[in-house]
Amino acid sequence: MAAPDPAERVEQLRAEIEYHNERYFLDDAPEIADAEYDALMRELRELEAAHPELVTPSSLTQRPGGAATTTFAPVSHVAPMLSLDNAFSREELDAWHDRIVKLVPGPIVFVAEPKLDGLAISLLYEGGRLTRAATRGDGVTGEDVTPNVATIAAIPERLTGKAVPDRLEVRGEIFMPLASFEELNRRQGEADDRLFANPRNAAAGSLRQKDAKVTASRDLDFFAYQLGVQEGGPKLRSHHETLAWIAELGLPVNEHTEQLDAIDGVYDFCARMLDHRHSFGYEIDGTVVKVDDLGQRDEMGTTSRAPRWAIAYKFPPEEKTTVLRGIFVSIGRTGRATPFAQLEPVFVGGSTVGLATLHNQDEVARKDVRLGDTVIVRKAGDVIPEVVGPVLAKRKKGARKWVFPKECPACGATLVRLEGEADHHCVNVECPEQRVQRIVYFAGRGAMDIEGLGEERVRQFVDAGLLADVADIYALTVEGLVPLERMAQKSAENLVAGIEASKARGLARVLVGLNIRHLGPTAAQAVARAKGDLAAIEVAPVEELTAVDGVGPVIAQSVQRFFSIADNRALVDKLRAAGVDLTSSTAAPAAEGPLLGMTFVLTGGLEALSREQAQAEIEARGGKVTSSVSKKTSYVVVGENPGSKLAKAESLKVTILDEAAFVDLLDNGPSGD
Ligand code: IVH
Repeated sequence: MAAPDPAERVEQLRAEIEYHNERYFLDDAPEIADAEYDALMRELRELEAAHPELVTPSSLTQRPGGAATTTFAPVSHVAPMLSLDNAFSREELDAWHDRIVKLVPGPIVFVAEPKLDGLAISLLYEGGRLTRAATRGDGVTGEDVTPNVATIAAIPERLTGKAVPDRLEVRGEIFMPLASFEELNRRQGEADDRLFANPRNAAAGSLRQKDAKVTASRDLDFFAYQLGVQEGGPKLRSHHETLAWIAELGLPVNEHTEQLDAIDGVYDFCARMLDHRHSFGYEIDGTVVKVDDLGQRDEMGTTSRAPRWAIAYKFPPEEKTTVLRGIFVSIGRTGRATPFAQLEPVFVGGSTVGLATLHNQDEVARKDVRLGDTVIVRKAGDVIPEVVGPVLAKRKKGARKWVFPKECPACGATLVRLEGEADHHCVNVECPEQRVQRIVYFAGRGAMDIEGLGEERVRQFVDAGLLADVADIYALTVEGLVPLERMAQKSAENLVAGIEASKARGLARVLVGLNIRHLGPTAAQAVARAKGDLAAIEVAPVEELTAVDGVGPVIAQSVQRFFSIADNRALVDKLRAAGVDLTSSTAAPAAEGPLLGMTFVLTGGLEALSREQAQAEIEARGGKVTSSVSKKTSYVVVGENPGSKLAKAESLKVTILDEAAFVDLLDNGPSGD
């Protein structure tokens, strides 16, 4: 048999290899073994070596590393994928505005959008089908990541709608929702794999996978924000028309997009987005302000780097690097021993951070931060500052691993870590630090809300022998306080008045303040309301507590166990004798109203309403408030510094309301859509 023509054989091999790439990447179903695949690649490589004239830049062998399974093919962008110029202040935004108004006659209308913190992607649709997806790369040449992008549910394989164009390049951002990021890092941690520093790194790492199956397992999301090449379809005149058409074609566009006709409104939008940046369920690092009119855009043009018609208004960074000076352990009100980092103070996320949590032993081990390391610190909104990890390139020689201390730093008792638990505990009930923290918690905003009784004061009073338990607070007198350091007559009077006022906070807050395991504010409210008086709760058997709506067996048992301990009952007697109101007068939920049958979960602090007020408003309209998010939850109301409930709501696709939307719902009822 005559040897085949090399050019023909090369063609044949390329087609065959592409075919197997698709089976492997797109279908998750390879038809040949890796070794056979490698043999095809080898033959192609040898033929190309013998016939260099057959090599093309896009040949499979020309990809760095050589094999399609290990690298990505380069893609030349039809039009370069530009970057954006940045503005970091109102002044810089105004300066941009001043520049562009000079470039065109007539008024300018803007469209402002969140700046998604992910990675830019170019999607090419031909005949309505996704034929190629490319990363931005250096803006001129990107990488072909089609098989990986094909696994992202938010990116349609086919365009929909009446006016499907022959050829369309859609640009947008691939990102990882926060809930998915947390879940991914949890899985990585369990498997002892490396953790991703932030959702953007996780998104990039997940997209640039040799094995598209890995990408498929990563739950990436996408929003489109721009068009490139367009052949066919409507003649578009503005950005807002463009976004509407993109949406019609079945591609997701971000809902928090506004058309604005003056720079003041643009700035308000930026300020609002900054306020709400933690309530979206995905990270944004700024806003992008764009000129709406495409004709005006053409007139303004671009520089080689970025368009003149758009600007990124960047939020202050929430991550910075600093030096780790020490690792210590703090003892909480339950005895939990939490390692934390002492840092060279650094301004990040709107405040100066000198301390940051390290959570627990396993977290420190996983992050492997060592004394003297340069570390990345993250402070997102009101969330407690966290050490993300070390910058290994800057590690000093000889830096040693940190070991968890054996003893409680406050009382010297052995720290215990129970099987299956992540935390160490100081199990000494007499531990002075636990005592301080319990009293601080009782006096804190979530419980009795005693103004002027913060951690420093509590520590001082405990040291002075004035406080041994929370009930001792009510024995504090002006005369007793004045002799103490830094305690003027007036502050002593104010403090005692604040203590007096706290007596009337009601049963639910007392229950919270007692620091009963598992009993959060919502369940405490439910128990208080159902039983009416602490005397009834003290003697209630588990079954009776479980019968309370919103109280499960875990909470019920914990409450029952708490009051079975004589010391705790004595403490309650002491509170009662001091005149603390141990009854509940809150009204029961209404049996009708516009929110009847709806369940709410509240997370984070609201500005206009306290938690109790929010709950009362919901209940007055027939709605219910529960403590944990499930598929049955109708709404999750998200305030400042929301907890993990937000992420849970995102993952269960429960409707999320910010404060404004919540107030609107109270005022106008559900809209019915
Ligand atoms: S428009 C030529 N809109 O920001 C300008 N970009 O810093 C095209 N980005 O590479 C970009 N959200 O990855 C635009 N709503 C948005 C965006 C956005 C995030 C990214 C994009 C771009 C980078 C520039």
